[in-house]
Amino acid sequence: MTTIASHTLTTPTAVSADEQRLLMSSYPTGVSVITAVDAYGMPHGMTCTSLSSVTLRPPTLLICLNAKSGTLAAIGDQGVFAVNLLHSGAQATAELFASRTPDRFRDVAWKPADRSGAPWLVDDALAVAECTVRRRLPVGDHDVVIGEVINLRYSEGTPLLYGMRRYSRFDAREAAGS
Ligand SMILES: Cc1cc2nc3c(=O)[nH]c(=O)nc-3n(C[C@H](O)[C@H](O)[C@H](O)COP(=O)(O)O)c2cc1C
Repeated sequence: MTTIASHTLTTPTAVSADEQRLLMSSYPTGVSVITAVDAYGMPHGMTCTSLSSVTLRPPTLLICLNAKSGTLAAIGDQGVFAVNLLHSGAQATAELFASRTPDRFRDVAWKPADRSGAPWLVDDALAVAECTVRRRLPVGDHDVVIGEVINLRYSEGTPLLYGMRRYSRFDAREAAGS
């Protein structure tokens, strides 16, 4: 029997989606907006926390996107995407790109990134990584997209975080008791 907070998992082989969500909510991460341009030149973007480093040589990362995502379809069109790492002042943009708003780019400043043409959120991103798709692996209702980083812009800033189902900002102070 495994205990997570007040929830007790009695059947570890049949973990529900709610239990998996609870587990992952206890793993705070940075927040990114993944962007791409579709075959008609329309920009797409979505808030994403399933970003992970894969390897440094070649510089490679992965993201896991819902198979029904319009952003994923656009990535499939062009084979390139951008990862915009949000700073702590960009919570409204994270909310916008997780919403059902159809034209999410109307209210944010963006320009095509140098190498890929994928949208770079100039006011909201503390870093942007342009990637070319190396592999795509369907898993359940999501696709794992593995991208090689082909260009990078980085500036100093405080990252936006998401965990325990809320946004916060990175606090560089040491944890109490460390
Ligand atoms: C904090 C946060 C993180 C999210 N991370 C992901 C993610 O990693 N993968 C995913 O498929 N959806 C994720 N979503 C949901 C998408 O942002 C949301 O469904 C979006 O509207 C999809 O847009 P699209 O279908 O136009 O591409 C996240 C939402 C929030 C609020």
